[in-house]
Amino acid sequence: SNAEIGLIGLGTMGAALALNIADNGFDIAVWNRTAATTKAFHNDAGELAARITPTETLEQLVAAIAKPRAIILMVPAGAAVDEQIAALRPLLDDDDLIIDAGNANFHDTNRRAQEAGDKPFLGIGVSGGEEGARFGPSIMGGGQRQHWDRVAHILTAIAADYDGTACATWMGQEGAGHFVKAVHNGIEYADMQMIAETYGIMRDGLGLDHGKIAAIFAAWDKGPLQSYLIEISGKVAAATDPQTDAPMLDVIVDAAGQKGTGRWTAIEAQHLAAPIPAIEAAVVARNLSSQRDLRAAGETLFGTGPHHMPHDTLSIETLEGALIAGKILCYAQGFGMIAKASAQFGWALPLPEIAKVWRAGCIIRSAMLDDMADALAADPDGNLMHAPAFATLLKERHGQLRQVVAQAALHGIALPALSSGLAYFDAMRTARGTANMIQGQRDFFGAHGFARVDGGEGHHGPWGS
Ligand code: 6PG
Repeated sequence: SNAEIGLIGLGTMGAALALNIADNGFDIAVWNRTAATTKAFHNDAGELAARITPTETLEQLVAAIAKPRAIILMVPAGAAVDEQIAALRPLLDDDDLIIDAGNANFHDTNRRAQEAGDKPFLGIGVSGGEEGARFGPSIMGGGQRQHWDRVAHILTAIAADYDGTACATWMGQEGAGHFVKAVHNGIEYADMQMIAETYGIMRDGLGLDHGKIAAIFAAWDKGPLQSYLIEISGKVAAATDPQTDAPMLDVIVDAAGQKGTGRWTAIEAQHLAAPIPAIEAAVVARNLSSQRDLRAAGETLFGTGPHHMPHDTLSIETLEGALIAGKILCYAQGFGMIAKASAQFGWALPLPEIAKVWRAGCIIRSAMLDDMADALAADPDGNLMHAPAFATLLKERHGQLRQVVAQAALHGIALPALSSGLAYFDAMRTARGTANMIQGQRDFFGAHGFARVDGGEGHHGPWGS
């Protein structure tokens, strides 16, 4: 029993994480429901096999780990996690630590932390896909700090590195890590959606071919938009289908899948009354993308477009500016939601640290996140839109976002995320809004009362009886 840590679940992410742990010099014992998977994993581990102990039963796994034990679960989120904990706990000592590293709903993590009682339990969000899990993910931890500290040396060693800082951070109690991961995924959805929307303008409005679109993304990846998602979007646009030689994007069906983390973010935002319209629009856009038959029927009935934009309607630079503005607004919303949750749940979530932990390893890593970390460190309670660096960028770019949204509207191109980003921006720079009408209506039909501009709550209007 000398492995420093154990891992259960050798699917894509679990296997990659186990190899990463071994690669960083830690002995690890592994177990998978199907023994053949464990065996194949060990056989394929090459020189890392020496650091990996394959086990055939949970008892063997537990026996192979040094006390006090730490065991990572990398099984599908949901019931499988509860089943695994129920099977494992009776075999463990009271001070052994279970770490759920899957994409759990943070409400489940809150519950599991409570159910664990005094027995150590952590919920950690892991981002970066298979490549990240193997060579350096971004890790967002939740649970008791003392339990995090027990495994922090392993988690920081395997995490992505940003200029000498490990992208592995304890976020707070219970489900705090999984909550931050969920918001990460919500932002991921909006970032992806906004990129897809600019692709739509290039393809349908400007009539650009995939080679040109790929080159534009590649060029943007050298500027303010530099990010993993822009980089891979260029690569996706450049790829051709080996079977037909057609551009890959012409071969892929336009209906987006989702496992639910972005949706959880949108649902939670509603509970918190946190405005994240660009993220919600991105979830809606995925839902809508699946309604292919209805979309096709709509095109038959109403026609589509008119898409083609006359030459010079929009420059590529204008499109880039719109995406820069949209991205800032999306992150302002995401961080605003985190701040709201932090207050509501009593978590003291460290906003600058969250921006830092997202700078490398995760799917939304980007150059801009470094500036966001600086801005949030300077003013942790402020809205990102008001931070000097981002306020300057927004002042420069919101006109371009407006042009893009306006031209897309005139040419029948749907931009759900970019347009809701713009609406958010305009609403958030309007001191006198229109909710006075809502309050008047509410008081008219339900005597709900309103506050008067000259003072006092609970007033009623002269609506008559
Ligand atoms: C990450 C990703 C990952 C997520 C996939 C798929 O940070 O590595 O967020 O955790 O599971 O991106 O998510 P959807 O299936 O919901 O698109």
